[in-house]
Amino acid sequence: MKVNFVSEAALTHGTIIIPVFEGEPLQSGGETYTKPIQNTYEAAKKAARFEGAFKKSFSIYGPVGVDAERLVFFGAGTRDRFDPEVFAAHYARAEMFSGDETISFALAGLGLSADEAARIVVGVRLGTYRFDNYRTKLTSDKKPSFKTINVSIENPEIVQAAYDNFHGPACDGQIIARDLVSEPPNKLFPKSYATRIKTFQSTGLKVEILCEKEMTKLGMHALLGVGVGSERESQLVIMHWNGGAKSEAPVCLVGKGVTFDTGGISLKPGNNMWDMKGDMGGSAAVVGAMHALASRKAKANVIGIVGLVENMPDGKAQLPGDVVTSMSGQTIEVQNTDAEGRLVLADALHYARTKYKPKFMINLATLTGAIISALGHEHAGLFTNNDELAKQILEASDTTSERTWRMPLSGDYNRLLNSPNADMKNIGGSTAGSITAAQFLHRFVGDTPWAHLDIAGTAMKNTRHDPREPAFATGFGVRLLNRWVADNFEG
Ligand code: BES
Ligand code: MN
Ligand code: ZN
Repeated sequence: MKVNFVSEAALTHGTIIIPVFEGEPLQSGGETYTKPIQNTYEAAKKAARFEGAFKKSFSIYGPVGVDAERLVFFGAGTRDRFDPEVFAAHYARAEMFSGDETISFALAGLGLSADEAARIVVGVRLGTYRFDNYRTKLTSDKKPSFKTINVSIENPEIVQAAYDNFHGPACDGQIIARDLVSEPPNKLFPKSYATRIKTFQSTGLKVEILCEKEMTKLGMHALLGVGVGSERESQLVIMHWNGGAKSEAPVCLVGKGVTFDTGGISLKPGNNMWDMKGDMGGSAAVVGAMHALASRKAKANVIGIVGLVENMPDGKAQLPGDVVTSMSGQTIEVQNTDAEGRLVLADALHYARTKYKPKFMINLATLTGAIISALGHEHAGLFTNNDELAKQILEASDTTSERTWRMPLSGDYNRLLNSPNADMKNIGGSTAGSITAAQFLHRFVGDTPWAHLDIAGTAMKNTRHDPREPAFATGFGVRLLNRWVADNFEG
């Protein structure tokens, strides 16, 4: 999609969308079109029974005195509840198969900030997102038709900068994360995934890939144990973005990248197992965020680390009761091979903390079904050993609408992981499953300020919960991480 920020006079064809706030006079129109648009609106709104209620709309085809094929007056609801992304996504979803190739949002006169105006485009892009890569029989009327989005506004250069330097790259990153999560597991497996990440070096990222041999040397047997039942080699991918001062310690982003989770020998039931292609959603968020940071040349040092593994049952697969030694030296009794994400993260987190001595470390993982029982699909679980970090993340959540909810950590939960056969076991009891999973990770972070986001419910959804999201892969976490870095580490 081509994106242009322009003055009102530049809107000369296609469909022009005019947001109308409920209970307010028509304010859009800028200088060129004020009169004709006002006249058209006043003449038609009564017959259309339109007062700007959210999502209500009416169209005028071939408007007189305006150089466009169609005017759409689209209800924006009341101003206090207005979200430009949600507004634009609703419009775009309603009209994405209309055949319109050029759509223009007339925003001059509405009093929107540069960020809000830029986020109109984000709403269109996220709302019309589809993963059609493997559909060969889609007829052209089933393909989204928008090719050019114009936004007219008083200060187009300022809005263009807000888009190019922040919102556009964040949106690109989120779309990359959605694509990765949507890819089927025969196409996206550890090696092909690592190769794909390598192509993102075009943004200026430096990408390093560790193979099984190198991980064996490092002693990463918790991570490696998950992959031993798979024909596909496990990979650890490290993405470097050095946009800050040389002397500045980095922040680390760590992601669970289980490209398919069968459960291993503790096999999952067959129904809905196909969703487990998305068990790399945490890693996808990290990759998307690193892509965003590099494309917008973020002034911070950030390292992204993803553990890429396929969890399979096999003659060589690890068994319930196996004891593995993690890179940290701590031993783990693997009582359930389906609690594999924490095993991957244990080594990835230990590696991040000892190798890079980060100021802060955040990991993201589709870690537990229990977080869906606790928080549904609306909030990710936030677990942290640091109140300042909790505050930063909750604030970034507020600005991006990628919501998180803080959950507890404590010694009482931690004790549930004690095992008579090793330093710990990889599952707790039958209750508080998300918290015991977080306690497990906590044992591998030392005193590094760290947060774990359990995104099992927010990264994958089986129905659409928000017009900006598709039915499955949301790309949750990219914008949150990008915002967190921007607000706290870029001076
Ligand atoms: N990948 C799953 C968690 C998951 C479940 C993500 C549903 C998305 C949707 C994870 O590896 C897992 O299997 N967790 C187990 C842990 C249990 C064995 C302690 C779970 O949640 O049942
Ligand atoms: Mn599992
Ligand atoms: Zn898993």
